[in-house]
Amino acid sequence: GRVAVFMGGNSAEREVSLKSGKAVLAALVSAGVDAYAVDVQGCLLRTVDNPEFDRVFIALHGRGGEDGTLQAILSQAGIPYTGSEMLASALAMDKLRTKYVFEGCGLPTPKFRTMSDVGQADQIIGELRVPLSVKPSREGSSIGIRKVRTAAELAEAYEAAAALDNLVLVEEWIEGPEFTVSLLQDQALPAIGLSTDHVFYDYDAKYLADDTRYRIPCGLAPEDEVRLQHLALDAFRVVGCRTWGRVDIMQDNDGNFWLLEVNTVPGMTDHSLVPMAAKAAGISFEELVVRILRDTLE
Ligand code: DAL
Ligand code: MG
Repeated sequence: GRVAVFMGGNSAEREVSLKSGKAVLAALVSAGVDAYAVDVQGCLLRTVDNPEFDRVFIALHGRGGEDGTLQAILSQAGIPYTGSEMLASALAMDKLRTKYVFEGCGLPTPKFRTMSDVGQADQIIGELRVPLSVKPSREGSSIGIRKVRTAAELAEAYEAAAALDNLVLVEEWIEGPEFTVSLLQDQALPAIGLSTDHVFYDYDAKYLADDTRYRIPCGLAPEDEVRLQHLALDAFRVVGCRTWGRVDIMQDNDGNFWLLEVNTVPGMTDHSLVPMAAKAAGISFEELVVRILRDTLE
C-alpha cells in the first residue's frame, strides 16, 4: 500500500523535520516503496480523514507529531504508523515526567526540580548543585535550554524556557561527555560519543556546526559501552517505546551514567545520530528506514 511520510508540522522543530522527512522519503522511494510526502499543517483530524494512504511514516519532531497527539488520532482511525504509540510518545515528549518514571524505576537521572515562578530561583539554587540546566519540559533539539550558575541567571533562563512551555525543568548539569544510544527493533546500536566547542550539544552544534565531533566507536571500554546500552534499553522499555528511538545520556567524572531523555522520533537528517549509529552497525540508511516501516506491517 501507499505510505505517507508525515513531515514539517508547526512545531519549533519544523525545519529539522522537513530535512528528516525528505531523507526518509528519498530512501523509501529508492527501496521501491510507493511513498509520498505530507507536510502536516493545520488540523490533524482532517489530514487522516479519507486518507490516500494505507500507513504513515512519522518524521515529525516535537509537538503535534512526536507527542502522542498524532499517534492517538492514527490509532483511532485504524491507520498503522511507525514508532511509539500514544502513551510512550506523550511521556517521552515531557522530560520532567519522564524523569519521574526513571526515578520510580530506580534508573539514574540528574537531580531536578520543577520551576513555575521566577521567585523560586533562590530556593532552587540552594537545593541543587550548580551549574544547572534549565529546559522547557516539552521541546526538542535543545531549543530553549540554558546553562546557569546564579539565581539571576536562573530567573532569566526560566523566563526564556517558560515562553516555550509552561512546564519548566531545572536539573543538575553533568559536565559530560555526552553519549547517545540509538535503539532499533529493541536492540541497542553502537553508542556515539559527542563533543563540541559550544557550551553543550545545542541546536547550532546539532544542525549547523561542522566542528561538532562524533565518536563512533564511542571511546568507552567495551564493558562500559555495554552498560550504557543496557541503560538505554531500560529507559526505552520503562517509557514503553516501540520499534525505534534514541536515548541521551551523560557520564560524570566518576564514570557514572545519567539519563537525560528518550526521543521517540529522533532526527533523520544528514547530521543525525541514528543513521550514523545504524551505519556503524552495517545498516544502510535505506535499510534503516525500511526496517522502521516494516514494524507497521505486523
Ligand atoms: N528532537 C531531535 C529531532 C532529535 O532528538 O534528534
Ligand atoms: Mg529530545
